[in-house]
Amino acid sequence: MSRIVHITGARPNFPKAAPVLAALHGRAEQVLVHTGQHYDDRLSRVFFDELDLPEPDLNLGVGSGSHAEQTAAVMIGLEKVFTERRPDLVVVYGDINSTLAAALVAAKLLIPVAHVEAGLRSFDLSMPEEVNRRVTDQLSDLLLVTSADAVGHLAREGVPADRIHFVGNPMIDTLLKHLDRFDEEAARSTHGLESDYLVATLHRPANVDDPAAVQQLVATLHKAAERMPIVIPLHPRGRAGLEKAGLHASSGVKLVDPLPYTAFLGLVRGAAAVLTDSGGVQEEASVLGVPCLTMRPNTERPVTITHGTNRLVGLDGVLPALDEVLAASRPERPAPLHQRPPLWDGAAGPRIADVVLNWLAAR
Ligand code: UD1
Repeated sequence: MSRIVHITGARPNFPKAAPVLAALHGRAEQVLVHTGQHYDDRLSRVFFDELDLPEPDLNLGVGSGSHAEQTAAVMIGLEKVFTERRPDLVVVYGDINSTLAAALVAAKLLIPVAHVEAGLRSFDLSMPEEVNRRVTDQLSDLLLVTSADAVGHLAREGVPADRIHFVGNPMIDTLLKHLDRFDEEAARSTHGLESDYLVATLHRPANVDDPAAVQQLVATLHKAAERMPIVIPLHPRGRAGLEKAGLHASSGVKLVDPLPYTAFLGLVRGAAAVLTDSGGVQEEASVLGVPCLTMRPNTERPVTITHGTNRLVGLDGVLPALDEVLAASRPERPAPLHQRPPLWDGAAGPRIADVVLNWLAAR
């Protein structure tokens, strides 16, 4: 059997990796590495408890740091792991620093790399994730893409067509698998919500680190809360900045710690709308049929606009867009299959497993 090492490190990796590991179970020798980029239970442990992910075989415990410190720590740790275990393939997920670090180390050791969620582009190199995506894709032998636009981006960057496989979105496999557990009534009672409500998540450096942006953002959130209550699970990154800029709990603003997977998606499922700067939430809201206002100038996930509920808004545009969304009739929830992006059907994990195993068998 081929030996496949999967690299995960931070919250958004876990729901992407779970269906791939499950589909390869018994068909390859698998090693699951957690780099330790995220280490708080609420960003890591809870996902292993909820998502049927096996315990990681190794945790590198790299923790937080500057981009260079974090990326370098992951590289040093993984070089030892790859040298000792000699994998036939390394599978990396998404666009975090751990993804880039793993691809670099594997490439230098001449170990093939498969990138799950390849080819997404915001064309905004001020986002660290865009740097991570571009370099990872250049170093990958198998580019497993979630949407058709990604195929075009990779082709334009000179990636040979036979490396690119349009397989769908494994994070949506996880969402559909657990859909019955997304309990909006439980979310309402947990957060004391009696009427319609909003959910907001914010953690991008461009929004939470820039003092002028964060001031405007906080004012916007408090104004949004005049329409209906808003629940804001606060990522540790940016929490201090948001609070310093005046974000405070009130009867309309409910500040909570990061939520476990099913509790968060239960909350989103019942929301009148979601305000976010996250990548994954744009996709999850689209499939759940919940209107999503993305507070960013661009998105690497345009399929959530063309085939989903997503809309890009600058900070000035949030409240007018919110009023439009609240006045409009609600989309069907969850979005029916024919209204979702192609291949966001719950079977991406098995497709990825087949591509990977066929490729390994042909080598
Ligand atoms: C990382 C990813 C981002 C992803 C996000 C999801 C990169 C460059 N960024 O951002 O793409 O959307 O995860 O959550 O890889 N911290 C904690 N506890 C933790 C982890 C982090 O308190 O378990 C705090 C620390 O102050 C740390 C800061 O959050 O310095 C940033 O953590 P880091 O992993 O560098 O990036 P994220 O902002 O979490």
